[in-house]
Amino acid sequence: MAEAAELTYSPEVARATRPIYERMKRVMPEVEWPFHAPLVHEINRLKRERNAVILAHNYQTPEIFHGVADIVGDSLALAARATETDADVIVVAGVHFMAETAKLLNPSKTVLIPDTGAGCSLAESITSADIRLLRERYPGVPVVAYVNTSAAVKAEVDICCTSGNAVEVVESLGVPRVIFLPDEYLAKHVATQTDVEIIAWKGHCEVHERFTGAEIEDFRGRFDGLVVIAHPECPPDVLEAADFVGSTARMIDFVAEKRPPRVLMVTECSMSDNVAASSPDTEFVRPCNLCPHMKRITLANILEALRTLEPRVEIDPALAEPARRAVGRMLAVKPR
Ligand code: 13P
Ligand code: SF4
Repeated sequence: MAEAAELTYSPEVARATRPIYERMKRVMPEVEWPFHAPLVHEINRLKRERNAVILAHNYQTPEIFHGVADIVGDSLALAARATETDADVIVVAGVHFMAETAKLLNPSKTVLIPDTGAGCSLAESITSADIRLLRERYPGVPVVAYVNTSAAVKAEVDICCTSGNAVEVVESLGVPRVIFLPDEYLAKHVATQTDVEIIAWKGHCEVHERFTGAEIEDFRGRFDGLVVIAHPECPPDVLEAADFVGSTARMIDFVAEKRPPRVLMVTECSMSDNVAASSPDTEFVRPCNLCPHMKRITLANILEALRTLEPRVEIDPALAEPARRAVGRMLAVKPR
């Protein structure tokens, strides 16, 4: 097996990876491809040898998203599609909670996260002890947890949700009030879409909380006909200033269906790159904010994970059973 440092951009690699580069040429200068191509080529070869699949979140960089991923999507799609694979090995190109969810749904498979430090400020904002205190304070009120939580937190809650199904999940419980955690802004957004009373936690996404409504209005003033689509982890003034609010997958569908001439995607940077690669009719107005956790995943550490079958995601069996139940209940909720 070749080490990453030994891989070269040979004529064979150049020829074999040309169709892959074609998919992302609108967002990657050709001069960069010789650096990525040998890794892409070796990862795709090793995937076959290992019977492995790569699940990549929409925030992964184009060389991962378009170059080596087998399944791409938002947190909901990655969780749902993780249950369908017959691969022996699942590599999660995303953050740790996504890899834990994949492991919960595939307890007998090897699940790898190329960098165990790929965390999430929302997942870190709440612990299982906090959930127990909330239950004492609000007896009998069901707890809905965004999937951006640890397996230990999922094990304490009634049901999970993602930004793609939060309203449906809350309403599926048939109760007048729910505790919704940890994202305060997603909770507030859900509260605008339902009559169910929402008790929120005060967690925030460190990437989305940096956007402001004033910044959006400033962009509107500078770019005629700008369509603004925002992720619901953004603060309320940003969501009020947006034309459409949805999960990363719904943002992608919005651009594919409506084909706006000019769009501002108020979310993580790589989203615009990944969507721009296949949306020649749309101009993408940046800026964006980078998620430092998502960016810990690289072609080099994906290759290393496939080579060594490490680092593996393991979940304490005592937590796995109740956490799997909360994720399973979410997957059973019918989408609208
Ligand atoms: P999505 O489920 O919408 O992809 O969001 C996940 C996430 O971490 C956004 O910051
Ligand atoms: Fe977590 Fe925010 Fe990064 Fe998503 S973008 S993984 S919510 S820190």
